[in-house]
Amino acid sequence: MTRIWNFSAGPAAMPEPVLRELGDDLLDLEGTGIGILEHSHRQPPFDRVLSGALDSCRRLGGIPDSHDILFVPGGATVQFALLPLNLLPDGGVADYPDTDVWTAKAIVEGRDAVPAAQIVVPFEGKRCAYDHVPSDAECPPTAGAAYLHYCSNNTVHGTQYHRPPRCAEGAVLINDASSEIFSRPVDWSAHGMVYASGQKNLGVAGMSVIIVRRDLLERAPRRLPSMFSYAAHAKAGSRINTPPTFAIHTLWRMCQWMIGEGGVAEMERRAQTRARMVQEAIDASGGFYRFLAQSACRSVINASFRLPTAQLDERFWKDAAMEGIDGLAGHREAGGIRASMYNSCPLPAVEALVAFMREFNRTKG
Ligand SMILES: Cc1ncc(COP(=O)(O)O)c(C=O)c1O
Repeated sequence: MTRIWNFSAGPAAMPEPVLRELGDDLLDLEGTGIGILEHSHRQPPFDRVLSGALDSCRRLGGIPDSHDILFVPGGATVQFALLPLNLLPDGGVADYPDTDVWTAKAIVEGRDAVPAAQIVVPFEGKRCAYDHVPSDAECPPTAGAAYLHYCSNNTVHGTQYHRPPRCAEGAVLINDASSEIFSRPVDWSAHGMVYASGQKNLGVAGMSVIIVRRDLLERAPRRLPSMFSYAAHAKAGSRINTPPTFAIHTLWRMCQWMIGEGGVAEMERRAQTRARMVQEAIDASGGFYRFLAQSACRSVINASFRLPTAQLDERFWKDAAMEGIDGLAGHREAGGIRASMYNSCPLPAVEALVAFMREFNRTKG
């Protein structure tokens, strides 16, 4: 079997050793004679999976006791609604700087979820084609806001905050870290909640990990149906009903793999290396390849760039696919090319990509 170098934005490439281990676990979970998909979620084998997932996630992320870890069905888009339902009272205010397609969706969903609250947009990135994330001066926080929601790595346009934004006095930061979780350390003292969907760094689509300060759950502003309530998920240890057992199991294997590879520090070092390799190929192209993002806030995870014409963009990703390098077409709202390089992305994949970039530039530039 030939594996393809996969730069898909998500679902995304996974480490081969994890895929092989999951294959074994499908047939027989740790000598039980029953596969992970077949085990009851209330029996000791799955108890061990769940506690393994929680422990490894906490260890990998350096997550303090002040924060609960929840595994909640539904992707990050579900959290766009659940977050304000759980943390924003009627009449309350929250800041939502708009830095990409996903923050724009979070604003719409948040307003629909809690129409009686005020979601303020202190920075409107659409006006600058989402080519940068705001400086503190460009993003004045609103006094009295309960929280500031931001997206630390903007998957579509390829921008990244190099340090978290400033929020109002008494507010907490909430981060949609879907495309960068565990790729660099987090200042947990500043964050009320960090969340991510699974399909980029944690394995399976359709589940989110929610890392949330316990005291915020105790102050939840309204009564909610249990499946919508973070406090109810926390109280039930992420087992209100049958949880997404395979997604939790895969997250455990992914966290174990990242720990074994050297943890967040090593993931960060690899991300910097990969980004530098792509950047060098772009810098050497004499303007043939151009990043969508300004240099000061370029993402080390998603390299979004374009060629001189849309026809060449298409030629590029189609030719690359024929060379065994796939998933490079840009997001439908941004066009161009996007190479998504999450924690699992191996160096040889990036070596293949930059070799292809140089050759394409030489022959078509
Ligand atoms: C930063 C970010 N937030 C949210 C989402 C949406 O995630 P989901 O499709 O799991 O709802 C994505 C998906 O690519 C993303 O990159």
